[in-house]
Amino acid sequence: MSVTVVGSLNEDVLVAVGRLPGRGETVIGRSAVLAPGGKGANQAAAAGVLGRGVHMVGRVGEDPAGDRQLAALAGAGVDVGLVHRTPGAPTGSATIPVEDGTGENLIVVVPGANAELTPGDADVESVRRAAVVLLQLEVPLETVTAAARVATGTVVLTPAPPRPLPATLTDRIDVLVPNEHELADLAGVEVAERPAAELARLARSIAPCAVVVTLGARGALVVPPQGRCCCRRRRP
Ligand SMILES: Nc1ncnc2c1ncn2[C@@H]1O[C@H](COP(=O)(O)OP(=O)(O)O)[C@@H](O)[C@H]1O
Ligand SMILES: [Mg+2]
Repeated sequence: MSVTVVGSLNEDVLVAVGRLPGRGETVIGRSAVLAPGGKGANQAAAAGVLGRGVHMVGRVGEDPAGDRQLAALAGAGVDVGLVHRTPGAPTGSATIPVEDGTGENLIVVVPGANAELTPGDADVESVRRAAVVLLQLEVPLETVTAAARVATGTVVLTPAPPRPLPATLTDRIDVLVPNEHELADLAGVEVAERPAAELARLARSIAPCAVVVTLGARGALVVPPQGRCCCRRRRP
Protein backbone atom coordinates (compact mmCIF):
# COMPACT_ATOMS: atom_id res chain seq x y z
CA MET A 1 0.00 0.00 0.00
CA SER A 2 1.34 3.47 -0.84
CA VAL A 3 1.66 5.86 2.07
CA THR A 4 2.85 9.45 1.71
CA VAL A 5 3.70 11.55 4.75
CA VAL A 6 3.76 15.35 4.42
CA GLY A 7 5.38 16.90 7.46
CA SER A 8 8.32 17.76 9.65
CA LEU A 9 11.80 16.33 10.07
CA ASN A 10 13.69 17.39 13.20
CA GLU A 11 16.92 16.44 14.84
CA ASP A 12 16.21 15.70 18.49
CA VAL A 13 18.97 16.65 20.94
CA LEU A 14 18.24 14.57 24.05
CA VAL A 15 20.12 15.83 27.11
CA ALA A 16 20.13 13.74 30.31
CA VAL A 17 19.99 15.96 33.41
CA GLY A 18 19.78 15.16 37.13
CA ARG A 19 17.17 17.89 37.53
CA LEU A 20 15.42 20.16 35.01
CA PRO A 21 16.71 23.77 35.14
CA GLY A 22 14.49 26.53 36.49
CA ARG A 23 14.12 29.87 34.74
CA GLY A 24 17.55 31.54 34.38
CA GLU A 25 19.32 28.54 35.91
CA THR A 26 22.26 26.54 34.51
CA VAL A 27 22.48 22.81 35.12
CA ILE A 28 25.16 20.45 33.84
CA GLY A 29 23.88 17.70 31.56
CA ARG A 30 25.31 14.19 31.75
CA SER A 31 25.09 13.36 28.04
CA ALA A 32 23.68 14.65 24.78
CA VAL A 33 22.38 12.19 22.20
CA LEU A 34 21.28 13.10 18.66
CA ALA A 35 18.27 11.20 17.38
CA PRO A 36 16.11 11.50 14.26
CA GLY A 37 12.69 12.98 15.02
CA GLY A 38 9.90 15.29 13.93
CA LYS A 39 6.26 14.24 13.95
CA GLY A 40 6.22 13.70 10.19
CA ALA A 41 9.48 11.78 9.96
CA ASN A 42 8.52 9.62 12.95
CA GLN A 43 5.30 8.57 11.20
CA ALA A 44 7.18 7.87 7.97
CA ALA A 45 9.85 5.82 9.76
CA ALA A 46 7.20 3.76 11.57
CA ALA A 47 5.37 3.09 8.29
CA GLY A 48 8.65 2.41 6.49
CA VAL A 49 9.72 -0.38 8.80
CA LEU A 50 6.27 -2.00 8.31
CA GLY A 51 6.40 -2.14 4.51
CA ARG A 52 7.42 -0.72 1.16
CA GLY A 53 5.83 2.20 -0.70
CA VAL A 54 6.32 4.93 1.91
CA HIS A 55 7.26 8.41 0.70
CA MET A 56 8.18 11.50 2.73
CA VAL A 57 7.53 15.07 1.57
CA GLY A 58 9.43 17.62 3.65
CA ARG A 59 12.37 19.99 3.96
CA VAL A 60 15.72 19.89 5.72
CA GLY A 61 18.64 22.34 5.62
CA GLU A 62 21.88 22.00 3.69
CA ASP A 63 23.66 20.95 6.86
CA PRO A 64 25.00 17.78 8.52
CA ALA A 65 21.77 17.44 10.54
CA GLY A 66 19.90 17.30 7.23
CA ASP A 67 22.24 14.54 6.00
CA ARG A 68 21.54 12.58 9.20
CA GLN A 69 17.74 12.93 8.90
CA LEU A 70 17.77 11.78 5.27
CA ALA A 71 20.02 8.82 6.08
CA ALA A 72 17.88 7.77 9.05
CA LEU A 73 14.65 7.82 7.05
CA ALA A 74 16.20 6.03 4.09
CA GLY A 75 17.50 3.46 6.57
CA ALA A 76 13.89 2.88 7.69
CA GLY A 77 12.97 2.09 4.08
CA VAL A 78 11.36 5.47 3.28
CA ASP A 79 11.71 7.09 -0.16
CA VAL A 80 13.20 10.54 0.58
CA GLY A 81 13.28 11.83 -3.02
CA LEU A 82 10.75 14.54 -2.10
CA VAL A 83 12.61 15.79 0.99
CA HIS A 84 14.15 19.00 -0.32
CA ARG A 85 17.36 20.66 0.88
CA THR A 86 16.62 24.29 1.76
CA PRO A 87 19.35 26.94 1.31
CA GLY A 88 19.65 29.38 4.19
CA ALA A 89 17.52 27.44 6.68
CA PRO A 90 18.81 24.99 9.29
CA THR A 91 17.34 21.52 9.66
CA GLY A 92 14.57 21.65 12.27
CA SER A 93 15.64 20.71 15.77
CA ALA A 94 14.10 19.82 19.12
CA THR A 95 16.26 20.24 22.22
CA ILE A 96 14.92 18.07 25.02
CA PRO A 97 16.43 17.95 28.54
CA VAL A 98 15.15 14.75 30.18
CA GLU A 99 15.25 14.43 33.99
CA ASP A 100 16.79 11.26 35.43
CA GLY A 101 14.31 9.08 37.28
CA THR A 102 11.10 10.97 36.54
CA GLY A 103 11.55 11.20 32.75
CA GLU A 104 10.02 14.72 32.93
CA ASN A 105 11.19 16.87 30.04
CA LEU A 106 11.09 20.26 28.39
CA ILE A 107 11.04 20.70 24.63
CA VAL A 108 12.27 23.65 22.56
CA VAL A 109 11.52 23.22 18.86
CA VAL A 110 13.19 25.34 16.17
CA PRO A 111 11.22 24.68 12.95
CA GLY A 112 14.00 25.84 10.58
CA ALA A 113 13.48 24.31 7.13
CA ASN A 114 10.11 22.80 8.14
CA ALA A 115 8.65 26.32 8.10
CA GLU A 116 9.65 26.60 4.41
CA LEU A 117 7.55 23.63 3.23
CA THR A 118 5.21 25.15 0.62
CA PRO A 119 1.78 24.17 -0.76
CA GLY A 120 3.60 23.57 -4.06
CA ASP A 121 5.87 21.02 -2.38
CA ALA A 122 2.75 19.06 -1.39
CA ASP A 123 1.01 19.29 -4.78
CA VAL A 124 2.81 16.29 -6.28
CA GLU A 125 1.83 12.91 -7.74
CA SER A 126 3.07 11.11 -4.66
CA VAL A 127 0.48 12.94 -2.52
CA ARG A 128 -2.26 12.87 -5.18
CA ARG A 129 -1.99 9.13 -5.78
CA ALA A 130 -1.12 7.69 -2.35
CA ALA A 131 -3.63 5.26 -0.83
CA VAL A 132 -3.04 6.99 2.52
CA VAL A 133 -1.73 10.50 3.21
CA LEU A 134 -0.51 11.18 6.76
CA LEU A 135 -0.45 14.79 8.00
CA GLN A 136 0.48 16.59 11.25
CA LEU A 137 0.83 20.29 12.16
CA GLU A 138 4.58 20.98 12.48
CA VAL A 139 4.68 22.50 8.96
CA PRO A 140 2.70 25.52 7.64
CA LEU A 141 -1.08 25.07 7.81
CA GLU A 142 -1.52 26.12 4.17
CA THR A 143 0.78 23.27 3.14
CA VAL A 144 -1.17 20.74 5.23
CA THR A 145 -4.39 22.06 3.68
CA ALA A 146 -2.94 21.83 0.15
CA ALA A 147 -1.90 18.21 0.73
CA ALA A 148 -5.39 17.32 2.01
CA ARG A 149 -6.97 19.10 -0.96
CA VAL A 150 -5.03 17.29 -3.71
CA ALA A 151 -5.08 13.84 -2.06
CA THR A 152 -7.40 11.20 -3.54
CA GLY A 153 -6.70 8.52 -0.94
CA THR A 154 -7.55 8.37 2.75
CA VAL A 155 -6.33 11.49 4.56
CA VAL A 156 -5.30 11.11 8.22
CA LEU A 157 -4.47 14.19 10.31
CA THR A 158 -2.73 14.05 13.67
CA PRO A 159 -3.51 17.58 15.00
CA ALA A 160 -0.22 18.07 16.82
CA PRO A 161 0.84 20.54 18.00
CA PRO A 162 -2.82 21.60 18.23
CA ARG A 163 -4.04 24.79 16.62
CA PRO A 164 -7.45 25.89 15.31
CA LEU A 165 -8.41 23.84 12.26
CA PRO A 166 -10.16 25.71 9.44
CA ALA A 167 -13.16 24.01 7.81
CA THR A 168 -11.22 24.04 4.51
CA LEU A 169 -8.95 21.49 6.19
CA THR A 170 -11.39 19.44 8.31
CA ASP A 171 -13.67 19.10 5.25
CA ARG A 172 -10.87 17.17 3.53
CA ILE A 173 -9.88 14.88 6.41
CA ASP A 174 -11.08 11.28 6.63
CA VAL A 175 -9.59 10.40 10.02
CA LEU A 176 -8.49 12.79 12.78
CA VAL A 177 -6.17 11.33 15.45
CA PRO A 178 -5.84 13.61 18.50
CA ASN A 179 -4.56 12.54 21.89
CA GLU A 180 -6.57 13.64 24.95
CA HIS A 181 -4.65 16.92 25.30
CA GLU A 182 -5.10 17.82 21.65
CA LEU A 183 -8.79 16.91 21.76
CA ALA A 184 -9.32 19.15 24.81
CA ASP A 185 -7.39 21.99 23.19
CA LEU A 186 -9.33 21.77 19.92
CA ALA A 187 -12.67 21.52 21.74
CA GLY A 188 -11.76 24.44 24.05
CA VAL A 189 -12.16 22.51 27.33
CA GLU A 190 -9.89 21.69 30.27
CA VAL A 191 -7.66 18.62 30.07
CA ALA A 192 -9.18 15.90 32.29
CA GLU A 193 -9.78 12.17 32.28
CA ARG A 194 -13.20 11.72 30.68
CA PRO A 195 -15.60 8.83 30.11
CA ALA A 196 -15.91 7.51 26.55
CA ALA A 197 -19.30 9.15 25.90
CA GLU A 198 -17.91 12.56 26.82
CA LEU A 199 -14.82 12.04 24.64
CA ALA A 200 -17.06 11.05 21.75
CA ARG A 201 -19.17 14.19 22.21
CA LEU A 202 -16.05 16.39 22.17
CA ALA A 203 -14.71 14.55 19.11
CA ARG A 204 -18.02 15.20 17.31
CA SER A 205 -17.78 18.89 18.17
CA ILE A 206 -14.44 19.36 16.38
CA ALA A 207 -14.93 17.42 13.12
CA PRO A 208 -17.58 15.35 11.34
CA CYS A 209 -15.09 12.73 10.12
CA ALA A 210 -13.92 9.60 11.91
CA VAL A 211 -11.94 10.50 15.03
CA VAL A 212 -9.53 8.20 16.87
CA VAL A 213 -8.80 9.63 20.32
CA THR A 214 -5.59 8.11 21.65
CA LEU A 215 -5.65 7.54 25.41
CA GLY A 216 -2.07 6.65 26.36
CA ALA A 217 -1.92 3.42 28.37
CA ARG A 218 -5.75 3.20 28.10
CA GLY A 219 -5.56 2.57 24.34
CA ALA A 220 -7.73 4.52 21.92
CA LEU A 221 -11.38 5.41 21.31
CA VAL A 222 -12.75 5.17 17.76
CA VAL A 223 -15.56 7.64 17.05
CA PRO A 224 -17.19 6.76 13.71
CA PRO A 225 -17.98 9.49 11.18
CA GLN A 226 -21.18 11.43 11.64
CA GLY A 227 -24.05 10.78 9.21
CA ARG A 228 -23.12 12.10 5.81
CA CYS A 229 -19.46 12.52 6.60
CA CYS A 230 -16.65 14.33 4.88
CA CYS A 231 -15.04 11.08 3.71
CA ARG A 232 -14.73 11.20 -0.03
CA ARG A 233 -14.65 7.92 -1.86
CA ARG A 234 -12.60 9.42 -4.59
CA ARG A 235 -11.30 6.18 -5.97
CA PRO A 236 -13.55 3.77 -7.85
N1 LIG B 1 1.96 3.78 28.61
C1 LIG B 1 1.44 3.17 27.54
N2 LIG B 1 1.15 1.83 27.54
C2 LIG B 1 0.64 1.22 26.45
N3 LIG B 1 0.35 1.85 25.29
C3 LIG B 1 0.60 3.16 25.24
C4 LIG B 1 1.14 3.89 26.33
N4 LIG B 1 1.28 5.19 25.96
C5 LIG B 1 0.84 5.25 24.69
N5 LIG B 1 0.43 4.05 24.24
C6 LIG B 1 -0.11 3.73 22.88
O1 LIG B 1 0.22 4.79 21.99
C7 LIG B 1 -0.97 5.44 21.52
C8 LIG B 1 -0.71 6.94 21.48
O2 LIG B 1 -0.30 7.39 22.75
P1 LIG B 1 -0.90 8.71 23.44
O3 LIG B 1 -0.16 8.90 24.72
O4 LIG B 1 -2.38 8.61 23.51
O5 LIG B 1 -0.55 9.87 22.40
P2 LIG B 1 0.85 10.65 22.16
O6 LIG B 1 1.61 9.75 21.26
O7 LIG B 1 0.40 11.90 21.52
O8 LIG B 1 1.48 10.83 23.51
C9 LIG B 1 -2.07 5.03 22.49
O9 LIG B 1 -3.34 5.01 21.85
C10 LIG B 1 -1.62 3.63 22.90
O10 LIG B 1 -2.00 2.71 21.89
MG1 LIG C 1 1.62 9.81 25.32
